[in-house]
Amino acid sequence: MSEPYSLGAAVDLVPEPERLFDSPNWVYLLREFETLYRYGSAGGSKAIRAHRKRVRDALALVVASNPEIVLREPEIKPVTAHLPRAFDLGARTTMEGLSRALERVSDRLTWEYGYQKVPKSLAKKYAYCEVMGPQGPVRSDKLILGFVLFAPNTTYPQHSHQDIEESYISVSGAWSENDGAVYAPGSLILNSPGDEHRITTGEWDPCLLAYAWIGPGEKLAAPGMKFSSTRKARVQQGI
Ligand SMILES: [Fe+2]
Repeated sequence: MSEPYSLGAAVDLVPEPERLFDSPNWVYLLREFETLYRYGSAGGSKAIRAHRKRVRDALALVVASNPEIVLREPEIKPVTAHLPRAFDLGARTTMEGLSRALERVSDRLTWEYGYQKVPKSLAKKYAYCEVMGPQGPVRSDKLILGFVLFAPNTTYPQHSHQDIEESYISVSGAWSENDGAVYAPGSLILNSPGDEHRITTGEWDPCLLAYAWIGPGEKLAAPGMKFSSTRKARVQQGI
């Protein structure tokens, strides 16, 4: 007669959650973010220097907690057809480290829109993926790190983020914000809470930007993204 199954044996079958340090590729990707926010120049701006430090401090706390890796369903969007080219361009620049580290996890990324209503034209030309945040894959309620990808010749409409401080670091492609300058790989752009911004990308190359969002936990969990009304956008731009 065989032994009945013991409770101990059943408990052993419950899988342990995957944690950050079980997944070297996620660790190395976060190391690339840490390097950029530590050694890149703040260009003499106290506001940018302070933002970079806030991002580094939050990142250090998250990494030290060895957080859970949340397994989300990988998802692509039409714009991800441009992703291999964005990696190829990124690998030619000083952003090679981040570009290659993202490429290593590219089969595990969940590309999304973040808006309930996305204009039809934009649905083919834009998507973002988070690598750290309240929904994972690296779980954090203090900081969101992610990437946004634009097809060539895209205008991403005017928007702002309430209570969230946002920085972009350009990985590949050229782009402009509010028609104010052209940014190349390696550039960091800070958008303080409420700052209205609109993005345009160059004619031939896709544009890949890394971003960091830092703000109150409840805002990071539900940022409520929406495009600004045309009137508000005009007022902010002084048109
Ligand atoms: Fe933004």
